[in-house]
Amino acid sequence: MSDRTAIVTGAARGIGLATTKQLLAEGWQVAMVDRDAETLQAETASLNNAFGVVCDVSEPDQVASMVDEVAGDGGSLDALVNNAGVADFGPLEETDFARWRRVMATNLDGVFLCSQAAIPALKRRRGAIVNIASISGLRASTLRVAYGTSKAGVIQLTKQQAAELGEFGVRANCVCPGPVRTKLAMAVHSPEIIAAYHDAIPLNRYGSEDEIANMIAFLCSDKASYVTGQTISVDGGFDTTGVGLPALRAEAES
Ligand SMILES: NC(=O)c1ccc[n+]([C@@H]2O[C@H](COP(=O)([O-])OP(=O)(O)OC[C@H]3O[C@@H](n4cnc5c(N)ncnc54)[C@H](O)[C@@H]3O)[C@@H](O)[C@H]2O)c1
Repeated sequence: MSDRTAIVTGAARGIGLATTKQLLAEGWQVAMVDRDAETLQAETASLNNAFGVVCDVSEPDQVASMVDEVAGDGGSLDALVNNAGVADFGPLEETDFARWRRVMATNLDGVFLCSQAAIPALKRRRGAIVNIASISGLRASTLRVAYGTSKAGVIQLTKQQAAELGEFGVRANCVCPGPVRTKLAMAVHSPEIIAAYHDAIPLNRYGSEDEIANMIAFLCSDKASYVTGQTISVDGGFDTTGVGLPALRAEAES
């Protein structure tokens, strides 16, 4: 049995599942949290040292029971990965309050609720929080009024967590993934959006779940023992660039 325990939310698929597998490979025990009970059960069945907890991270009572199940009774927790997220894109004027709340409830409330519930257990182990935001929280784009704003909130919440929890040895960092071909992204990335991403990313491609998981696992580990309050883009260079990459590429090819 491993002596390090992590909670990964949104672990049934995509980046959360890749992160779970990476942590398991590094010897962690992982509590895989998701509201999709069927997919969660199918995935946990094939993994050693992992167990599933069905929980909607936007529901305070469910979050309290989930943390209690994993680290209650004076139990400890070494890392919390707040990865569960939803993407529901729409223009500013067509984003009704129900859509706004649906996005905020998981993407921002969920991070707040899980982190708050886990603080006592994290303090006992001087553990780490890793929040998953997005490049959409760093730069505005079309259709992302709720999604982008929720992710910008996650970036700020991470800084607040780092400021308040540092004296207890608890670190908090934020990962901003660029585009990854998960179910979440493919539901909202049209062919035009995919082409536009390629145009704007120096590495000229989407990332993989494992490339994001590598950074998350690093931030959970002792190798990042002096890193806190940081927002780290894992985005093929997207955040560093402006316009003009396609023209430069065409020049290089000619
Ligand atoms: N894929 C991308 O291109 C991309 C880019 C930037 C950021 N992100 C962020 O990465 C994270 C993971 O995204 P992904 O692409 O792997 O998505 P995904 O849709 O493949 O997986 C998300 C998982 O979260 C679960 N989930 C959603 N709402 C939940 C809730 N309220 N409670 C519990 N579980 C819930 C889903 O059931 C699903 O298993 C998200 O926070 C997302 O915003 C993804």
